[in-house]
Amino acid sequence: MSRGIRWALASLLVALALPAGAQNAPAAAPADRTVQGDAVCTRCHDESESKPILAMYKTRHGVKADERTPGCQSCHGASEAHVKNATGSSTRPLPDVTFGKRAKGGVDKQVAACLTCHEGGKRSLWHGSQHQGRDVACAQCHTVHAAEDRVLVKAAQPEVCFSCHKSERAQVHRFSTHPIAAGKLACSDCHNPHGSTGPKLLVRNSVNETCYTCHAEKRGPFLWEHAPVADDCTNCHTPHGSTNPTLLKTRVPWLCQDCHSGDHGAQVNSGANLIGGNVTTVNGANPLANAAPRAQLLARACLNCHVLVHGSNHPAGSKFQR
Ligand code: HEC
Ligand code: HEC
Ligand code: HEC
Ligand code: HEC
Ligand code: HEC
Ligand code: HEC
Ligand code: HEC
Ligand code: HEC
Ligand code: HEC
Ligand code: HEC
Repeated sequence: MSRGIRWALASLLVALALPAGAQNAPAAAPADRTVQGDAVCTRCHDESESKPILAMYKTRHGVKADERTPGCQSCHGASEAHVKNATGSSTRPLPDVTFGKRAKGGVDKQVAACLTCHEGGKRSLWHGSQHQGRDVACAQCHTVHAAEDRVLVKAAQPEVCFSCHKSERAQVHRFSTHPIAAGKLACSDCHNPHGSTGPKLLVRNSVNETCYTCHAEKRGPFLWEHAPVADDCTNCHTPHGSTNPTLLKTRVPWLCQDCHSGDHGAQVNSGANLIGGNVTTVNGANPLANAAPRAQLLARACLNCHVLVHGSNHPAGSKFQR
């Protein structure tokens, strides 16, 4: 049956099936959320749609035994003009609330339709969040009419985010990464896309608090903290992916030398007085000038000696050695 004929038939059926009073019911009447109530819409919108509509009944939004469950009109509005198409126009007036590109009435209206039931909880900070501020709507991440909402599936979620965050896509395929592409970690393990009290939509108040949720051992307590570690893990690491091992922003020794300019390892090995990692010259001369090349080379491997770079306890000592 062609779509046109089906709609015409359906309009006829609704006219026959509904008592006169119901047809004139005010738009504000509480939506009938039952399957029967949905029939106002599903007469026309059924399995033959190009996109799945009824698959919703396989989702949490289809648990009709739960009285909180939405009906078509809970999200799309009563949509009387759309249902009736009183003028018989070939382009039907749109429903009260539509989603996606042709969305009617802007993003706020779509979001409000969802928040009538989902305000609070993880979304209590939605208003003022980066996504809200840039008019990202709930349905740009969530697909409610499909049996599976990809953004809720760990392995499928990143692709949803990458549709807008292209540079992160490149990052998670680098040499060293969090196992995001492998599907073991989702973006939402570290970010709350609905809003957060921390920077960059992080799930905790700070970068470190977020990292500690999985890497608790890096919190310590340490007798000797390494200042940049306690300050912010991103002083040395990048969260999504790096071309250097262990998600480091720069390779060792350059990473360390960003902050510690001295190359003291040679002195350590040549038996000279240790003058500290931050000093390269004494009385204008470089005390390492005559150091053996092997020692210089060794010194570059800072981690060979400073193994406990995240912090150390007794007896390892304050220089983060073994
Ligand atoms: C009598 C048939 C009929 C009924 C009843 C009907 N629709 Fe539609 N609906 C259509 C047709 C036809 C289109 C396609 C309009 C177009 O693409 O221009 C459509 C399109 C839509 C769209 C897509 C709008 C867009 O963004 O392009 C939504 C959403 C929708 N209907 C929801 C509903 C809801 C919710 C109900 C019940 C309250 C409902 N419809 C009842 C015929 C119907
Ligand atoms: C939980 C809110 C919600 C409920 C309930 C709901 N919809 Fe939708 N509808 C949406 C959203 C969001 C979209 C945009 C596409 C998507 O996310 O799947 C949409 C899209 C549509 C479309 C357009 C599909 C397209 O993209 O071409 C139609 C038609 C539609 N809905 C009809 C219905 C009908 C019929 C019902 C009742 C069985 C219903 N909707 C129930 C939220 C809802
Ligand atoms: C009339 C109330 C109502 C409306 C409106 C509504 N929802 Fe829901 N939603 C629910 C209920 C009830 C559940 C199931 C919650 C539970 O089981 O704790 C749910 C669950 C969900 C879930 C979790 C699904 C899962 O599999 O865990 C998502 C995501 C969601 N809704 C998104 C949306 C979006 C997006 C919109 C707007 C397009 C929307 N909802 C509109 C009532 C609603
Ligand atoms: C930028 C993408 C994105 C946007 C925009 C978004 N969500 Fe989500 N949503 C997610 C992800 C990812 C999850 C799963 C992780 C989680 O629970 O935090 C989720 C989970 C949910 C859940 C199920 C978990 C729970 O708290 O019960 C609901 C309900 C939900 N979102 C509703 C909404 C509503 C309503 C909006 C619009 C105000 C919205 N979402 C906007 C990505 C998004
Ligand atoms: C429809 C496009 C879109 C989708 C899909 C989307 N985002 Fe966003 N996101 C944005 C925009 C726009 C901003 C704000 C501008 C910016 O900073 O890039 C933003 C901001 C962010 C920020 C904060 C950046 C900052 O500088 O504070 C994070 C983190 C983020 N998104 C994560 C996610 C995650 C995780 C997902 C998937 C669950 C996701 N986004 C899905 C568009 C999107
Ligand atoms: C292991 C935790 C973690 C995971 C998993 C994660 N992120 Fe992030 N993300 C962070 C941290 C931490 C920052 C802040 C980085 C900074 O300040 O340098 C961040 C920053 C961002 C930003 C802002 C970038 C900018 O330049 O300001 C976006 C966008 C983002 N993440 C998106 C994503 C997306 C999309 C995913 C999933 C593919 C994801 N993140 C997975 C921890 C994570
Ligand atoms: C949701 C849990 C989780 C969170 C949160 C998390 N990580 Fe991870 N991290 C992992 C997992 C899983 C691995 C991989 C471990 C493995 O492969 O043995 C990993 C590995 C790493 C590695 C080693 C990578 C390599 O190539 O060996 C570093 C460095 C790291 N994380 C730093 C961080 C930082 C910094 C943060 C905070 C921005 C953070 N992680 C937040 C789960 C997490
Ligand atoms: C001063 C630079 C620096 C800072 C800051 C830093 N790290 Fe590291 N991290 C390293 C280096 C260097 C390695 C590689 C160690 C190796 O290869 O032996 C590493 C390795 C790791 C690893 C993988 C190996 C292991 O030890 O488990 C994890 C996980 C990790 N860091 C987490 C964190 C977390 C979480 C923070 C913030 C609390 C943090 N790092 C802050 C330098 C740093
Ligand atoms: C972002 C800057 C930064 C980076 C990168 C960094 N450090 Fe540090 N480091 C510090 C600061 C600040 C202190 C504390 C200095 C103080 O207390 O005088 C410190 C202290 C130390 C100490 C103990 C010094 C003492 O006097 O007790 C050692 C050893 C050390 N760092 C080794 C390393 C190594 C090895 C690396 C590379 C893996 C590294 N650091 C990377 C900033 C950094
Ligand atoms: C061969 C072992 C070895 C190597 C390699 C090494 N160190 Fe050290 N480092 C030491 C020892 C031993 C001490 C301090 C001994 C003491 O005073 O307790 C020290 C002390 C330090 C200190 C503290 C200096 C001070 O003021 O007391 C810093 C900072 C430091 N190293 C950074 C580095 C950096 C950066 C690298 C790589 C470029 C590096 N070390 C390579 C053995 C090494």
